[in-house]
Amino acid sequence: MLNLNFYKNKKILITGHTGFKGAWLCEILASAGAHVYGFSLEPPTSPSLFNIAKVGDDMESFLGDIRDFEQISSIFKKVQPEIVFHLAAQPIVRESYKNPVYTYETNVMGTVNLLECVRINDCVKSVLNVTTDKVYENKEWEWGYREYEPLDGYDPYSNSKSCSELVTHSYKKSFFLDGRVRISTARAGNVIGGGDFADDRIIPDCVRAAAKGEPIVVRNPYSVRPYQHVLEPLYAYLMIAQRQYEDKAYEGYYNVGPDETDCIATGELVGKFCDIYGEGAAWINKCEEGPHEANFLKLDCSKLKNVFSWKPHWNIDKAIEKTVEWTKCYLSGDDVSNCMKKQIKEFFIS
Ligand SMILES: NC(=O)c1ccc[n+]([C@@H]2O[C@H](COP(=O)([O-])OP(=O)(O)OC[C@H]3O[C@@H](n4cnc5c(N)ncnc54)[C@H](O)[C@@H]3O)[C@@H](O)[C@H]2O)c1
Repeated sequence: MLNLNFYKNKKILITGHTGFKGAWLCEILASAGAHVYGFSLEPPTSPSLFNIAKVGDDMESFLGDIRDFEQISSIFKKVQPEIVFHLAAQPIVRESYKNPVYTYETNVMGTVNLLECVRINDCVKSVLNVTTDKVYENKEWEWGYREYEPLDGYDPYSNSKSCSELVTHSYKKSFFLDGRVRISTARAGNVIGGGDFADDRIIPDCVRAAAKGEPIVVRNPYSVRPYQHVLEPLYAYLMIAQRQYEDKAYEGYYNVGPDETDCIATGELVGKFCDIYGEGAAWINKCEEGPHEANFLKLDCSKLKNVFSWKPHWNIDKAIEKTVEWTKCYLSGDDVSNCMKKQIKEFFIS
C-alpha cells in the first residue's frame, strides 16, 4: 500500500501540474510535506482548478513547453528532483484529430525530452509516466485489456500515448537497467472529480449544463468506460513511485481502473450524476456522427491488485457524489481549496 509519509521533504517534479490531475496531485503531495515543483504550460482551461484552488501557493510552479528540450532541461538542473511524475500532455481525443502534429510532438517528444533529462541528471530515482487505458489496440471486446497486450491506440491521442509507452520501454532497457532509475507507466481510465473544466469530457459537460439549468447532451450514451474518481489513479501513481523507489522489483507497466461492476455506460453515469445533483438535472441522448471513439473499453487490473494488494477506495456512486459535492461548493462560491483538502483527507485516511 501507499505510505504518504514517504514523500515528506522529498523533491518531486510534476509535469502537467496546471492541469486537472496535476493540480490534485500537487495538493496531495504538498499536504504530505513534499517539496513540490511543477513544469507545464499555463492551465489548459479557464477557469482552472489550479487557479481557483490556489494550488500554486503550496509549491513552486515553472511555466514552459515540454516540446522544448532546453526549457525542461533548465528546470531539471535547477530543481534536481528525486521523483518525477510525467503528466504533461495534449489529452483530448477530439483535439488530436484537429491537431495531430501538436499532439504527437507534445505526447511523444515531450516524453523523450523528459526521459533524456532523467538520463543526464543523476538526481532522479523514480519516474512514473502517466499514459492511458487507450494505449491498447482496441478490439471492442468485453474483456479487460492486460498489460502485455499490443499497444496500438486508434486515434492520434491514443496512439501518441502508445508511442510514449514505447519510448519509456526503450529508455528503460537502453539506459536504466543498472537500477539507478526506476521507471513505470500507469494506464488509467477516464477520471471524474471536482475541478475538471475541459471541453469534450462528460462530467464538465454535465456541470456546465446543470449550472445553466439546461439538459445535458450526451453524444455517446452507450459507450462503456472505466470511470473512476481522480484520486484513485493518483493514489496508484504515488504508490508505484514510492514502492519502486524503495525496491526496483516494483517497476513495471500497470493498468489502473475500477472494479468490473463500476465500468458503466456514459448514459448511466450521467443518469447517476443527475440523481445526485438534483435540482431537476436531466439529459438527452444525441448520438451523433463524429470521429471514431472507442465504444467498449475495460482494463484488467489484476496486476496492480496482486503486486500491491491494492483495491479501489470509492465506487462509482461515491465518485459521483464527491464530484457533485465539489461542484456545488464551487458554484455557490465557497472555498474550493478547503473542499479539495477535505476530500483528499477523507480518501487517504479512509
Ligand atoms: N483526465 C482523464 O480522464 C485521463 C485519463 C487517462 C489518462 N490521462 C492522462 O493524465 C494526464 C493528465 O491529464 P489531465 O486530465 O490532467 O489533462 P489536462 O489537460 O487537465 O492537463 C494537461 C497538462 O499538461 C500541460 N501541457 C499540455 N501541453 C504541454 C506542453 N506542450 N508543454 C508543457 N505542458 C503541457 C498543461 O498545461 C496541463 O498542465 C495526461 O497525460 C492524460 O493523457 C487523463
